[in-house]
Amino acid sequence: MSPLTTKPLQLTINGQAVGPVDVPEGLPMIAFLHEYQNLTGSRLGCGIGECRACVVLVDDEAGGSKEMRTCITGAHYFAGKRVRTIEGIADAAQAAADTSGAAQQRKVIALAPVQQKYLEHFSFQCGYCTPGFVIGATALLERLAKAPIAKSDVEKTISESLGTHLCRCTGYVRYFSAVKDVILNTPGYTTKG
Ligand code: FES
Ligand code: FES
Repeated sequence: MSPLTTKPLQLTINGQAVGPVDVPEGLPMIAFLHEYQNLTGSRLGCGIGECRACVVLVDDEAGGSKEMRTCITGAHYFAGKRVRTIEGIADAAQAAADTSGAAQQRKVIALAPVQQKYLEHFSFQCGYCTPGFVIGATALLERLAKAPIAKSDVEKTISESLGTHLCRCTGYVRYFSAVKDVILNTPGYTTKG
């Protein structure tokens, strides 16, 4: 059996510079996050690009962001990019290592508004799909902050943006109503009138 070929990888994750770290060529990004970075919040669902439980945000130079599926995208695709995972969405502080020397933990100080609304609307049941729905909604909200839409288009826009995410427990209605709640009750996401 031939040895694994590795290639250095350097990127930014949740505002922190990562690498260079030698990573096997072809390693899916979700494996890099889980096994090399101990960032296990993204979920491996289908593994074939259908469910979006595994998505992360990739920021672009223009201040925009888009969601990417990490089960079907190699870790090296993200070289040099700025990535945000579900662990980077809530406001968190780094708690000091405990006396046993355990790895540092992030302590959540405040949930992002959409996370809070998912709780208030009882949007999820098992929660396996929830990291993907948080990332998907975050990408949508960041897009609306730059390009607000008419109130009459909100429901259609939510369906188009989050309709690609799969949930095996719920009927999606509570996810969508939570995002609608955020959009309609936050200044700047919709145009006047
Ligand atoms: S696990 Fe990536 S799309 Fe389903
Ligand atoms: S809440 Fe269980 S898969 Fe969505």
